[in-house]
Amino acid sequence: MNIAEKMKRDWDQRAQHHARFWIATENYQTEEVFAQSGQDTAQALLKALTGLSHPSWKVLDIGCGIGRVLKPLGQYFHSLVGIDVSSTMIAQSKAWLAESPHITTFETSGVDLREFPDQSFNLVYSYVAFQHMPRPVFEQYLSEINRVLLPGGNLAMQLPIGQYCDVPIEDTIGIRSYSMEEIEQKLLNHGLAFGDKLVRFPISPTSNQPFDHGFHIIRKIKTIKPKIRAKWVQLEHPQHSSPLDMFLYETYAEDCVKVGKNQEGIETLQFLVHRNPEHLSGWLQLTALLLENGQVHQAVTTMQELTATHPRYQEGQATLQQLLALHQQGNSTLQEEPKQLLC
Ligand SMILES: C[S@@+](CC[C@H](N)C(=O)[O-])C[C@H]1O[C@@H](n2cnc3c(N)ncnc32)[C@H](O)[C@@H]1O
Repeated sequence: MNIAEKMKRDWDQRAQHHARFWIATENYQTEEVFAQSGQDTAQALLKALTGLSHPSWKVLDIGCGIGRVLKPLGQYFHSLVGIDVSSTMIAQSKAWLAESPHITTFETSGVDLREFPDQSFNLVYSYVAFQHMPRPVFEQYLSEINRVLLPGGNLAMQLPIGQYCDVPIEDTIGIRSYSMEEIEQKLLNHGLAFGDKLVRFPISPTSNQPFDHGFHIIRKIKTIKPKIRAKWVQLEHPQHSSPLDMFLYETYAEDCVKVGKNQEGIETLQFLVHRNPEHLSGWLQLTALLLENGQVHQAVTTMQELTATHPRYQEGQATLQQLLALHQQGNSTLQEEPKQLLC
């Protein structure tokens, strides 16, 4: 499996689980909240483009998801295209954008813009998508953006800029951040340069995300001959699971429990531990939730799976023995005190 294939597989899985959650983890709860967050992002983009943009511009969204930002932007621009590596996101965008016939979306390779001729857009933008991509993929997009932008065209992108930070190449969701020197050099290599505006705004008033989510406005300053990679190398660790992925699945399960959707929380944690059996806290949360839900037999089975996967986890072995003993006596204690048993 190469990185393009892994991005496709992982983002399809996330979209199949709950597209709105994986697009806007703090604003996914209802369609209304999600739509409002799209409005806010679109407004921030238009504000960043004040005095520059025109409704007749041809616009491309890279990593559009289901069209959260495209839809409100469609009230301003006459012609918009969204692309995404995930076929599931794109399938769902058809419903989300059903009333916007001037917005087209389609699945692409996740590494280039080969569907588009040279110089076909006035504006390319991308929001909370580049930050998740491995550096070489982002860099190839910069090359492609230079190719598809009209002379003097604009790129508006959200990207964490400040301290350099990277995660393994196999990680398709972990956040990468860039130092100013690095990003300026990369832009220059691809015939692009910063404009002077940056609109900062938090993703939600309660957000404690470490990076700002402003749009950087970047101009195409010259046309550079694109270099498309012939081949992406095979990944050394294709099964690698991102810690951020695991954290977000757990967060989703906790949210489910808060609103009384225990069964959905259980299914999410089951998916999580089968995807990454090394994730001990996921197993423990799953067992606790099964007990809370009165599914004692499944809790015992889960503990058995856990101890088989982690044979040296002695507390787990002890807890399993306790569970089995209590299960044989009748399970009232189990339902009352599942957390104590598992701490
Ligand atoms: C956090 S979501 C944001 C979606 C959208 N930009 C928004 O703000 O509503 C990230 C999106 O980027 C897409 N994506 C991730 N890697 C990509 C790639 N290499 N090429 C195109 N899309 C990608 C994912 O499938 C996902 O839909």
